[in-house]
Amino acid sequence: MSTTDDEVLVSVEGVYKHFPIKQGIVFKKEVARVHAVDGVDLQVRRGETLGIVGESGCGKSTLARCVTGLHPVTKGRILFEGEDITAMSRAGLKAFRRDVQMIFQDPYGSLNPRRRVGSIIGDPFAIHGIADGADRKKRVQELMELVGLNPEHYNRFPAEFSGGQRQRIGVARALALKPKLIVCDEPVSALDVSIQAQVINLLEDLQEELGLTYVFIAHDLSVVQHVSDRVAVMYLGKVVEGAEGEDLYRAPRHPYSAALLSAASVADPDQAERAERVVLIGDVPSPIDPPSGCRFHPRCPKAQERCVSEEPELVSRGADPADHLTACHFPVEPEESLAASHAGIDQVSTEPELPEVEQ
Ligand SMILES: Nc1ncnc2c1ncn2[C@@H]1O[C@H](COP(=O)(O)OP(=O)(O)OP(=O)(O)O)[C@@H](O)[C@H]1O
Ligand code: SF4
Ligand SMILES: [Mg+2]
Repeated sequence: MSTTDDEVLVSVEGVYKHFPIKQGIVFKKEVARVHAVDGVDLQVRRGETLGIVGESGCGKSTLARCVTGLHPVTKGRILFEGEDITAMSRAGLKAFRRDVQMIFQDPYGSLNPRRRVGSIIGDPFAIHGIADGADRKKRVQELMELVGLNPEHYNRFPAEFSGGQRQRIGVARALALKPKLIVCDEPVSALDVSIQAQVINLLEDLQEELGLTYVFIAHDLSVVQHVSDRVAVMYLGKVVEGAEGEDLYRAPRHPYSAALLSAASVADPDQAERAERVVLIGDVPSPIDPPSGCRFHPRCPKAQERCVSEEPELVSRGADPADHLTACHFPVEPEESLAASHAGIDQVSTEPELPEVEQ
């Protein structure tokens, strides 16, 4: 990849986040681990929107929390403007927390119902000891105006706003300290479709106006496609494909990305006619004990013996552009139809082969 260090705002390097599962009444003993994020490498470039997609439980929010410093990582490094946030001093972390903000999915649950919106949006000023009294009120009202809220509503409670307006409150709060990066974790999933577009347009306008960089997490591929410059597809704690959005949507190389896209196309009436649905077999395996080799192998229509034992690297494959990375031994070729190859996986033995015994 030809990206220079200066263009990279965040670099996630070999990051793992495991949650221990403990049992026992007095002496709690670790009996297993949830491999929520299990060896992720990715970069976020200045001024871009990096979309992250994947099924529920694949580790998107956990990764987001690691990147924003809300979760300590189990292993690995996260560089923000070249500095490793996993090894930062308290003072360094305080400065980092001004530069990186998060917008959450639930505009209802993330706002305290007993506090007035003026004081909610002003929280970051209070936490960082910036602006007081009338100055703080003025700044909060400017933020309200910036996100399309009426500054006169400064003293209202969250319950007096609609879902879309509440998400604008969350956006205003995230913008208060002029961050460089905003991690949006499913920011529109809880909103009506008509309101989703308004919030997305607002985020896009703000990006242009303020030169923001976004990590944008969503289930909905069409939302991610609309907002993202580049997209990373996650499966069971790993990034399985990463590419320019256009490349990935036109020619997905990982069978999982192809399946996700085919499901999204079938749901979209404009594309349903030409869409060919790839049906995935079985459920997402448990992140406590991920499958061997390629962890997508139990559900993959292209799986072969090698996939069971050998984990594929996330690298550029064949004639793909240098920044189109795919973790798959047998990537989907142009014009290849996955819909026709369901049977493959059932025929792959996951049992070790035993030597024949002479009777
Ligand atoms: N604090 C925690 N303690 C234990 N396990 C956790 C914790 N947070 C997340 N997990 C587990 O880690 C895995 C990844 O969860 P995560 O919330 O990151 O997924 P997600 O991709 O954001 O899912 P969704 O799309 O449903 O929001 C899940 O199996 C989840 O149960
Ligand atoms: S490595 Fe094998 S199992 Fe994994 S996605 Fe590629 S073909 Fe499927
Ligand atoms: Mg989540």
